Amino acid sequence: MTTEARATAGVDVAELLGLFPHGTRLADDGVLVVGGCRLDDVAAAYGTPTYVVAEDALRRQARRLREGLAARWPRSRVLFASKSLPARAVYHLMHDEGLGIDVAGGGELLLALDAGVPGSAIVQHGNAKTDDEIRRAAQAGVGTVVVDGEGEIGRLEQLGRDGQPVLLRVQPGVDPGTYAGVSTGQRGSKFGVPIEDAPRLLNRLANSSRLDLRGIHLHLGSQMFGLDPYRKAIDVVSALGEFDVYDVGGGLAVRYTFDEHPPSIEEWLDVVTEAARQGLPSGAELWVEPGRACVAESTVTLYRIVTIKHGSPTFVAVDGGIADNFEASTYIGTRFQATIATRVGGDELVDVVGRQCESGDRIAAGVRLQDPVIGDLVAVPVTGAYTHTLANNYNGALRAPVVFCRDGVMTPVVRRDTDADLLARELAFP
Ligand SMILES: Cc1ncc(COP(=O)(O)O)c(C=O)c1O
Repeated sequence: MTTEARATAGVDVAELLGLFPHGTRLADDGVLVVGGCRLDDVAAAYGTPTYVVAEDALRRQARRLREGLAARWPRSRVLFASKSLPARAVYHLMHDEGLGIDVAGGGELLLALDAGVPGSAIVQHGNAKTDDEIRRAAQAGVGTVVVDGEGEIGRLEQLGRDGQPVLLRVQPGVDPGTYAGVSTGQRGSKFGVPIEDAPRLLNRLANSSRLDLRGIHLHLGSQMFGLDPYRKAIDVVSALGEFDVYDVGGGLAVRYTFDEHPPSIEEWLDVVTEAARQGLPSGAELWVEPGRACVAESTVTLYRIVTIKHGSPTFVAVDGGIADNFEASTYIGTRFQATIATRVGGDELVDVVGRQCESGDRIAAGVRLQDPVIGDLVAVPVTGAYTHTLANNYNGALRAPVVFCRDGVMTPVVRRDTDADLLARELAFP
């Protein structure tokens, strides 16, 4: 079957390829090529499951964000929300592309520093920063600390560095219109301080002899399709007074399936900067901190089919699942597309499920594959965000490697767990 003939089958191949990293193409024999690397070659070299990152696509997205914001608001900064894909190579790449780095825990700080990111380029988050994390951030000379609650102020004054620049994270009280598990900017959130407490706390920070209050932080939620909440939130914080810095968080949705049509990065930046022009001081610095929109589309997870159960539905079970894509199976739910990596397209309706012991372990429900058979490679696009970072050893799974692909060269940047890793934390018992 030629590539053209395949394109006429059930799935619109061009649309499907549109979910894959920028630059993805089909080889003459129909095999998917990501970052210039054939996916069958990646599987042969690194096994499955594997996260395959198209390095150029990742860099392109980082640039699109940084240049897009700078064109609309020159005094601006894009921070990479590193919780979405915390691998040293990614920290290095984002810093190299001129993004700042948002870390939300001592481990992310460690990875960022180890990747060569200077402390000054790092913004520290966390609704429950430990004393140790505050001290480590001070030692690293972290550029900005986002104060997440009243109780943190005294601890930062005591344990942080003298003159530490800070932002205050506020709850604008705006419903982000997304999944409850990833909503953060509404009233009653565990993050930030209620908007009515903000004036008092801002006053306290402004009068601190140890901390340097620079501005306001907000983050509304994740996988947000609507842009109105950004308008409303910026309007709410504009009433708090004039500051040097406004960080309006991340949260932009990405397109996982054909039915989803999130705003583009450019549309998001248009709305955010327009709202800033209406409500914020014109000389202020405007920061955004996307994670998902920065990394999701750069990556494909590659699996191998282990078994197929024909029926209604037909289950195509692969050698991964919850262990490598926790978010899909749990708090956000199944919403991926998939294809056989060597026979793209097709019209056989199946559910691609994982091998972990949960019925919710569905990677892609109701997708169309072409004649799936045991041993085929399955490629699941848009898996750069919140996959590697939430990977786990459920059912004794060995966590998957991360492989960068660029111009046909494969570079592993995180290796697969080994049996020895699995046993490493186990101690002798009497
Ligand atoms: C403070 C903060 N900023 C940014 C982000 C990134 O969000 P997203 O990946 O949806 O862009 C998060 C995600 O949880 C966050 O908590």
